[in-house]
Formats: sequence, C-alpha cells, structure tokens
Amino acid sequence: MQELTRYAIVGTGGRYAMYLRAIARDFNNRGRVVGLCDINPHRVKLASEYHEKLGGAALPTYGADTFDAMIAETKPDVVIVTSVDRTHDRYIIRAMELGCDVISEKPMTTDADKCQSIIDAMATTGRKLRVTFNYRYAPRNSKVKELLMQRVVGNIKSVHFEWLLDTRHGADYFRRWHRDKRNSGGLLVHKATHHFDLVNWWLASHPRTVFAMGDLVFYGRDNAESRGVTDFYQRGTDDPIAAGDPFALDLRKDKLLKRIYFDGEHADGYRRDQSVFSDGISIEDDMSVLVRYENRVTMTYHLTAYSPWEGYRVAFNGDAGRLEYEVHENSYISGAEDDANRADAGDIEIHEPARIMVRPHWRAPYEVTLDNLDETGHGGGDARLLQDLFDPGEDDPLGRAANHIDGARSILTGIAANRSIQTGLPVDVRSLVRFN
Ligand SMILES: NC(=O)c1ccc[n+]([C@@H]2O[C@H](COP(=O)([O-])OP(=O)(O)OC[C@H]3O[C@@H](n4cnc5c(N)ncnc54)[C@H](O)[C@@H]3O)[C@@H](O)[C@H]2O)c1
Repeated sequence: MQELTRYAIVGTGGRYAMYLRAIARDFNNRGRVVGLCDINPHRVKLASEYHEKLGGAALPTYGADTFDAMIAETKPDVVIVTSVDRTHDRYIIRAMELGCDVISEKPMTTDADKCQSIIDAMATTGRKLRVTFNYRYAPRNSKVKELLMQRVVGNIKSVHFEWLLDTRHGADYFRRWHRDKRNSGGLLVHKATHHFDLVNWWLASHPRTVFAMGDLVFYGRDNAESRGVTDFYQRGTDDPIAAGDPFALDLRKDKLLKRIYFDGEHADGYRRDQSVFSDGISIEDDMSVLVRYENRVTMTYHLTAYSPWEGYRVAFNGDAGRLEYEVHENSYISGAEDDANRADAGDIEIHEPARIMVRPHWRAPYEVTLDNLDETGHGGGDARLLQDLFDPGEDDPLGRAANHIDGARSILTGIAANRSIQTGLPVDVRSLVRFN
C-alpha cells in the first residue's frame, strides 16, 4: 500500500478549510493532516474541531511561535500555507529549511525582497514549492489556453484585460487585513496575481516592462466625505449607524463569520468587519497597468474594485483575428455561509455565465461552446486543482501546475506596478529579482 503523505496547515481562517476537507474526506487514501498552526488559538481550535466533524481525530494545534515544534513533533512531508499573505515567505522558507515541501496559496509573497528570499531558500534547500493558481484549472480558462495553443486567431500581439470586483466581494478587501498594503501588497499583488498568472500562462511568456497608475478613489473616509457622507462608524457589527449601510458587514448575521472571526477577536484583536469608509486604507481601488512581455506582446489591464457586477473581459488581438472572452463571476463573502471554500457551506449551486467568441479575419465569427461545466468553487477550478495536487493523473498537456517561478512571475507584474505607482516611472521587471 502507498504511504500516506503527511500535511501540516498554517493559517486556519477561511481558505484552509478547502484543503483540510479535501485531504480528510476526498483524498484520505493519499494523505492525512497531522498538525495545524495559526496565530489565533480560537481559530486553530475550530479547525481541529472541523477535522473531527469530517471524521478525523482531534489534531495537535500550534501558535505562530511554535511552528518549528509542529514540524518536529508531527513530521509533515508537506506544509500548506494559507495564512495572511505577508507571512507566506516566513512559513515557506522555514518549512523548507526544516525539510518539508510546500504548497502555498497565492500570492506567493508580497514584495521583491521576500520573493528573492524564497527563490534563494529553494536553491539552498532543494525543496519543492507549488503555488495554487486555481483560476488556471477553471474549465473556461483552460479552454482559452487550448484555443490559444491551437492559434485560432494566430500569434497574439496584444491583450486588453479588464477585471471588475463588485461592491460586495470587492468591498470585502477594504474591510479585512488586505486594506493594509503591508499585509497584501495591495490588489495588484493580492488579487491581480491570479490575472497576471493567467496571462503569463495563456501567452507562455512573462513580463519585461511595467508602467502603472492607481489610486484610492471610492473607498476610504476622504472619498466618502467628498460625496457628502457625514455619518461614520468603525465596524459593521453592533453599531446603529452601520445598520442601514449596504457596505457594512454585520458578523452576527452569518453564523460562520461570527464563529470564525467575531468569537475569536479576544485572542488577537483582528476585526474582519471594518468600515470600508474608515481611515487607514493604504491599498488602491482603481488601477491601470501597461505591460510589455518578453515575447513583445503588450497588455492594457484595468482593475476596478467598486463595480456593480463582478467578472472579467479579456480580448486577445492576434495576427489572424481576435478572441473575446467574458465571464460573470459569483460574488461571495470569504469565510461566510455563501463561500464555497467553506465546507460548512454545503453544496452551493453556482452559475457563472461565460462566453468565448472567436472572430477570425475575413470569416464569420463563432462562439465556442462551454458545456456542462461545474462552476462551483472559482469556476470549477478548486475541485480540479485539488485533484491535481493530491492525486495527479497523466502529464497535463496544458501545464497547469505552477511552481515557484510561475508564483514569482505572477507577482512581479504587481510588484513592478506598485513601484511604478510610487515613482511615476516604468519598471524593468528584470531589476526586481534574480532567478539564480
Ligand atoms: N486561490 C483563491 O481563490 C483564494 C481564496 C481565498 C483566499 N486565498 C488565500 O488564502 C490565504 C488566506 O486567506 P483567507 O481568506 O483564509 O484569510 P483569513 O483572514 O480568513 O485567514 C488567515 C488566517 O491567517 C492567520 N494568521 C495571521 N497572521 C498569522 C501568523 N503570523 N501566523 C500564522 N497564522 C496567521 C489568521 O489568524 C487567520 O486565521 C491568503 O493568502 C489568500 O490570498 C486564496
């Protein structure tokens, strides 16, 4: 019988549950979770209880200061990193130094120095790192890759990419730890790592030059005041001023949010329901980026975080035509009952209309059909990613598994864009990190 792979998980808030559930329930013939770590003792205890609910044993739990002890005592082969972005580098590097391979959630890390440290640690330890880009695995995104590989519109010359986050899901980044750029690298790293990874993968290239502009133009107290708002509150829970505001999140109204975050506040003071119109937001909500890739393709990219609908539009201009792609995404609140990441959410039926139009030169345009796609969990990407992580099949002709180089290249566009926003100048991506 094949030996079970031993996994430890660090960061037990919302996203970790998908991995824990997959290993404990769907792939328990391949691996098992042996330890859990989080800076918040309340949340890490809930995670162990969840493991029991899935039919497993109570798991040993550790704090941020006893991560090394977890590795020594529970002897994992692989550490899964699902903590706050700012902390990814620390756990990736330490896990590799202690002899483990690593699976890290996106973004791999948040700035160039941390990215360099991860690349260097990989070289010295010889360990492996997977970065889990679930968007690659969504069948509709894989279909676009297939079409581009078949050159249905010839060689791609330029890309126009617009991503919209709505006032529900998009607003959530301004309530949570992400609102502080030091935690998340801003949306150009935290969120756009998905988009920039897709483009690198679709084009089989990586960024060379980046120029960007970005600002906080909608969220934040200053912007609200200039629209005439005079009533402000700090948090969405238990404040009468927040009661009538559709932007406010009342943690008591959702049993999962209450249990995971509100009931755990005593342990670390983290408030998940901050007002999106309060002070202290250091990330942008409106960003424009120009990129030139190594293969000379150019991209114009725009991310708006205060849109009435959520989804994306991408147009590929090729030398034999144009491919147009549009996806309407389901908006949800991370960690809440409508979040498909959360096991407790049960089976959530999700329909996300997507359309791929191929418009060849001199011939009639045609729509590429996307039939019978299960869209639950990031366009059906999560389930396929988990399969590939925990029970991979044959070699994947689409090359969806992402390593640390892909992880680094996906954040370098955003890191360069952040630098460009600060300096007003274009950034040569080759100046940011060395790949040894
Ligand atoms: N691929 C996707 O679609 C997707 C979706 C959601 C989240 N994510 C990623 O998963 C990660 C977690 O996001 P989330 O939504 O679960 O956030 P979350 O806030 O729900 O959970 C983060 C957890 O990290 C813990 N933490 C904070 N500082 C720590 C430290 N120093 N050491 C150990 N633990 C610490 C927090 O206590 C919390 O429990 C992020 O990196 C995010 O980008 C990816």
